[in-house]
Amino acid sequence: MRTILIFLIIFVLPDEYSANEPLNFCKFNSTISELPSTWSFATLDQVKLCFQNISVNYSVANETMKQLFNSLDFYSFLSIVRQSDYPYSMNINFREELSNILNQSNMNTYKNDYDFHMAVTLCFKKLKDFHTTYSVPNGYAQFHVLLPFILEFLPLTKQIKVQFGINLYSSIMRSNSNMNYTNQIVTTIDGINAFDYMMNFAEKYSIMSKDPSVRLNSVFREEFWLQNLAQYPLPLKSNITFTFLDKTETVTFPYAVVITKKFDQQSSIENDNRYSPSVTYTTRNAFSYITRLEKLSWYEQKTNDKFRFITGNNDTYYYVHESTNTAIIRLGSFDDQVSEDVKRVFLAASGTTLILDVIGNRGGSSCLAYAALHFLVPEYFSHRVLYEPFDGRTTKQLQTFATIFSFSPDSILDLRNMSSFTNMEWMEPRVNYTRGNTTDSYSMKWSINCDGQVFGMGKYWMRNESNTKYFKSIYVLTDGSCGSACSLFVSKLRYASNLKNIYGIGGGYFNYDSDLFESSSYAGGGAFDWNSIVTYHNQLATYNTSIDHLPTSAYLNLNVFEVYINALNKDYPREFLKQPIDKSLDNGDYFNIDQSLEKIINDDEKSSAHSLVDHSSTKIFLFNIFLVIFLMN
Ligand SMILES: *[C@@H]1O[C@H](CO)[C@@H](O)[C@H](O)[C@H]1NC(C)=O
Ligand SMILES: *[C@@H]1O[C@H](CO)[C@@H](O)[C@H](O)[C@H]1NC(C)=O
Ligand SMILES: *[C@@H]1O[C@H](CO)[C@@H](O)[C@H](O)[C@H]1NC(C)=O
Ligand SMILES: *[C@@H]1O[C@H](CO)[C@@H](O)[C@H](O)[C@H]1NC(C)=O
Ligand SMILES: *[C@@H]1O[C@H](CO)[C@@H](O)[C@H](O)[C@H]1NC(C)=O
Ligand SMILES: *[C@@H]1O[C@H](CO)[C@@H](O)[C@H](O)[C@H]1NC(C)=O
Ligand SMILES: *[C@@H]1O[C@H](CO)[C@@H](O)[C@H](O)[C@H]1NC(C)=O
Ligand SMILES: *[C@@H]1O[C@H](CO)[C@@H](O)[C@H](O)[C@H]1NC(C)=O
Ligand SMILES: *[C@@H]1O[C@H](CO)[C@@H](O)[C@H](O)[C@H]1NC(C)=O
Ligand SMILES: *[C@@H]1O[C@H](CO)[C@@H](O)[C@H](O)[C@H]1NC(C)=O
Ligand SMILES: *[C@@H]1O[C@H](CO)[C@@H](O)[C@H](O)[C@H]1NC(C)=O
Ligand SMILES: *[C@@H]1O[C@H](CO)[C@@H](O)[C@H](O)[C@H]1NC(C)=O
Repeated sequence: MRTILIFLIIFVLPDEYSANEPLNFCKFNSTISELPSTWSFATLDQVKLCFQNISVNYSVANETMKQLFNSLDFYSFLSIVRQSDYPYSMNINFREELSNILNQSNMNTYKNDYDFHMAVTLCFKKLKDFHTTYSVPNGYAQFHVLLPFILEFLPLTKQIKVQFGINLYSSIMRSNSNMNYTNQIVTTIDGINAFDYMMNFAEKYSIMSKDPSVRLNSVFREEFWLQNLAQYPLPLKSNITFTFLDKTETVTFPYAVVITKKFDQQSSIENDNRYSPSVTYTTRNAFSYITRLEKLSWYEQKTNDKFRFITGNNDTYYYVHESTNTAIIRLGSFDDQVSEDVKRVFLAASGTTLILDVIGNRGGSSCLAYAALHFLVPEYFSHRVLYEPFDGRTTKQLQTFATIFSFSPDSILDLRNMSSFTNMEWMEPRVNYTRGNTTDSYSMKWSINCDGQVFGMGKYWMRNESNTKYFKSIYVLTDGSCGSACSLFVSKLRYASNLKNIYGIGGGYFNYDSDLFESSSYAGGGAFDWNSIVTYHNQLATYNTSIDHLPTSAYLNLNVFEVYINALNKDYPREFLKQPIDKSLDNGDYFNIDQSLEKIINDDEKSSAHSLVDHSSTKIFLFNIFLVIFLMN
């Protein structure tokens, strides 16, 4: 086999390397015009040298572990992950998992600081819960490994193809050799069967969902081609090798690294890794930037013969399918920051049929999701309050933290009479559940109040008595990675009289269940970041507490309250249940979304044609009865 090595050495050696100045592994200041001027790029080798030179500080590691053990008192699913029911049947002793890391750390197993933090990150990933995560300190979170292509799974042939090369990768590597593999079928990656490679990646690193098909969807769509080093470990090798079906040669590409900052030395990264109350931890900047740069969002392009752009931005759009007048609403998130965009789009939309695209929606405000449900579903209009029940594991620590809600006394509703609690009765121990190997006390079930201070004071509602038009048919388009508030939205929309079908894009990875994967993910309930928990808890605690901020800028987030979808199961948290899609589209193209939309529109046309036929046969039937009656007279 002929081997072509495409290995471009763009290791632009900084001046210091040649001169008699000391080596500086952590200088990252190379830029190209495609990137913002405050960003930089590097090869993976350069980044490795830098990360490997930052050593573990054991007092930092000890304090980190101590706080992680403290955090377990706030984590709602600690006992259920020990033994959850079908279909996700988890069995994780999380306390023991953490204790393992502490032991390894005491035995100096971690070669460097990054290794230690990544071990914690990977430990949290076992929970497969996007709400309960640990991301390594903020300095490292600026680094993103970029691959040469975006891959696509073909459900019908079960093959993986190169969907397209990434332009930014070519620019960084100063070669467009990654651009001429479009539509090639990938057979192996790093010597491993390509599907097994992707499967392994999804199992180890994706926490998008408890459903393996949804994890794979998420990996193909975004997690594989851009890997933030806060959540995905440094690849072991510096390059990645592909083989293709119709080609004899093996092709190797070095990994590129996009850095959303410039660094001049190691101490700059170490500074960013230290705890600072002002740090805002974000890992999505590079993803959003590159998505726009590569023009990956079909909706953002606003040009298509068959679909007309009406309004929207910020991944919230309203389109109309010209020939059928089908309304299409893209909901990229339920974030508070886009709530005005969401409202505008809903209020502008009209017609009888609506397709809601929630692919990759990461949630946001639950009350915005409730407002959307209230707007779309006729039965929900008459509900005085729209709710699903929450509860909490009543540890002393959580009870202390929860008193923060008593400062806005209208925020928590009593489900017995739909009035606000004026005391903390809602967080008192009420029921014992034996989940896994332990029996814990849980509070009564209560609800958040979307008209209350904490939850927006009713600012999200958009339906009132004077607008009375509803869509007759609603379809949802999801890849399963519709999380948090989006999951609440879809889980509840499922029971609406005008919801016709939930369509799934992607999937087809496995034969069992004909791969009707989970329609939404991480419905958990109420999640909080550790710094907020610490701040409020310590202000409210009247006892001595060892609860403190992490010693670094690592980001810890926990699922604190759990939510139930009454219509699905009153007693088992939504997080551990499955509400599958209704139909698979047999299509794994997340970027040219018009094909999927047209399939749904086509199905809708067919089903309305059916109901016309039904209608006319009913007429004939009635006519016949009439005739019989007539004849009898
Ligand atoms: C490696 O780390 C040490 C200790 O922090 C530092 O003194 C040294 O300059 C670093 N080496 C390089 C080449 O960056
Ligand atoms: C990077 O830093 C070196 C040394 O400070 C400087 O000579 C070089 O011009 C910088 N490169 C860029 C692209 O800023
Ligand atoms: C370890 O971290 C602590 C807390 O940040 C700091 O006080 C100490 O100097 C560090 N130790 C070393 C050896 O860097
Ligand atoms: C970390 O904790 C272990 C015990 O858990 C102790 O033996 C070790 O000395 C501690 N290390 C530091 C640097 O505090
Ligand atoms: C960690 O080490 C302690 C003391 O050596 C031991 O009792 C415990 O079982 C170990 N935990 C794990 C998970 O290995
Ligand atoms: C890609 O393009 C380069 C030059 O443009 C060419 O040498 C190479 O053979 C092409 N590779 C493939 C797989 O077509
Ligand atoms: C790929 O990277 C490894 C080191 O990680 C190196 O030994 C090997 O030569 C590289 N392969 C190519 C083709 O560049
Ligand atoms: C929404 O879009 C507007 C206009 O394009 C922009 O100014 C604003 O920053 C965006 N908001 C968010 C949250 O992205
Ligand atoms: C609501 O019901 C609870 C329990 O029956 C009761 O304690 C509370 O006073 C009621 N609240 C109002 C406003 O009636
Ligand atoms: C729950 O368990 C605790 C401790 O075993 C017990 O004191 C309490 O009465 C139980 N509560 C209920 C409602 O059974
Ligand atoms: C808990 O698990 C341990 C070991 O798995 C077992 O020995 C013990 O009997 C269990 N306890 C209960 C109450 O089920
Ligand atoms: C009802 O909602 C419409 C928007 O659909 C708004 O224009 C109107 O002002 C609202 N009416 C009332 C009474 O709030």
